[in-house]
Amino acid sequence: MTGKGFRQRSVLAATLGGVILIAASAAAQTAPAPTFSKDVAPILQNKCQECHQPNSIAPMSLITFAESRPWARSIKTRVATRQMPPWHIDQSVGVQKFKNDMSLTQKEIDTIVAWVDAGAPQGDAKDMPAPKPIASDNSWKGVRDGFGEPDLVIRSSEYKMPAKGQDVWYRPMSEIPITEPRWVKMVEIRPTNLKARKVLHHSIAYQVLSPANVASVNTGTANGPSAAATVEDLVNRRPQLMEWAIGKGYDLFTPGTGKMIMPGEKLSWDQHLHAAGEEIDAGSEIALWLYPKGQEPTKRSYLIGFTGLQRRGFLDIAPNSVSHTEGFTVLKENTLITNFQPHFHLRGKAMEVRAILPDGSTEVVSYVGKFNFNWMTNYIYADDAAPAFPKGTIIQVSAWYDNTKANPNNPDPDQWVGYGDRTVDEMAHAWMNVVYLSDAEYKAHVDAKKARQTNESPRQ
Ligand code: HEC
Repeated sequence: MTGKGFRQRSVLAATLGGVILIAASAAAQTAPAPTFSKDVAPILQNKCQECHQPNSIAPMSLITFAESRPWARSIKTRVATRQMPPWHIDQSVGVQKFKNDMSLTQKEIDTIVAWVDAGAPQGDAKDMPAPKPIASDNSWKGVRDGFGEPDLVIRSSEYKMPAKGQDVWYRPMSEIPITEPRWVKMVEIRPTNLKARKVLHHSIAYQVLSPANVASVNTGTANGPSAAATVEDLVNRRPQLMEWAIGKGYDLFTPGTGKMIMPGEKLSWDQHLHAAGEEIDAGSEIALWLYPKGQEPTKRSYLIGFTGLQRRGFLDIAPNSVSHTEGFTVLKENTLITNFQPHFHLRGKAMEVRAILPDGSTEVVSYVGKFNFNWMTNYIYADDAAPAFPKGTIIQVSAWYDNTKANPNNPDPDQWVGYGDRTVDEMAHAWMNVVYLSDAEYKAHVDAKKARQTNESPRQ
């Protein structure tokens, strides 16, 4: 009879449930709770202290037990929701291998949560790992990460930002002090001093090209791509050496690619300053790590802001609404994409970059579902994960805005928001460094990817 069968199954299920419950509580009794000294401190050292130390950007230090203990609850919330570390890229779609991944593994999250749930015990101080060296000031992340001292540091003049007032866009010029053409391998921008970190929201270093440099790219010599893409990228849009914003580290170009600088060229800065309640002198400086002479790369890398807007410079976000825009850019060349940095202002909520290939297939390149204005995180793809698309592919950038009070960064959900440079205005684009590939290079990329996939998934 069906009734009986049903009863039997539920008894069995209940019994199984009981067994699992007993096993779980037995495990909880025997497995010791994680302690700060043994289990949590190593995670904080590797994934948190770069920012959570006295002279860095985070509001509190997480080095000792005494410093960390008062924050236990907040730490649990921030790590369990993956707000901290600030690595907000979706882990279920798109490229998943990065050069600068600072996210926690699920196991690390579980350890921290279990530690807090157990009352955040210190454990035996003897278990503490040896302390990690901490930065004493405004040091370069590239140096801390072992790339050595930069070859060249170019500094902008400083602006005296008053304690109160409107936002300022400070746009001085700097010389590039070199005597022969050089190739740049890595760049990093930082505020000129520790206090400047409080007022400098973003800084872009544009390269004012010498005519010789434009010509060398334009004619396709010096390893430039074809003229069509180049003239537009280099002249009309001003090439950028780097875009920096709060929380960003360096841009490391893909091996064999870089940006060329020439004698006589200048840097033109675009720095966005925001008053912070005290007078602060602020500017920015850029560090350049160069390719050694004789090891010049064969390709240029271009920083492009793929638009998320239907019409450039036009946005219309109603008060108290969640809204969406999308922008389309056709690739004129076979293109390798080496990083993704979503850019919005305060209402930014989510951004997806999708490729629509000439054969009609589509592919999600990257998706950030929890954008947070405080974190202009740059996601740098691992060399063997950077995607390439053929000429004619459409890059579709979809952008979502949250102009409701649910958005903690929203200064006023009752405001209409349009396009503009001010932080209270909005914009949406995907900063991506790209390298243009010849047909042969593109084919080699596709073949290498196929070979990797065969090796990685033998069952298919
Ligand atoms: C790249 C720098 C950086 C890293 C790495 C980082 N943090 Fe943070 N953290 C910050 C900054 C800046 C803030 C303040 C702004 C904010 O809340 O986003 C912050 C805020 C926090 C807060 C909220 C403090 C409060 O006011 O309640 C907690 C908790 C926290 N971080 C924990 C961690 C933990 C734990 C890790 C490592 C697992 C970590 N953070 C990694 C920079 C960082």
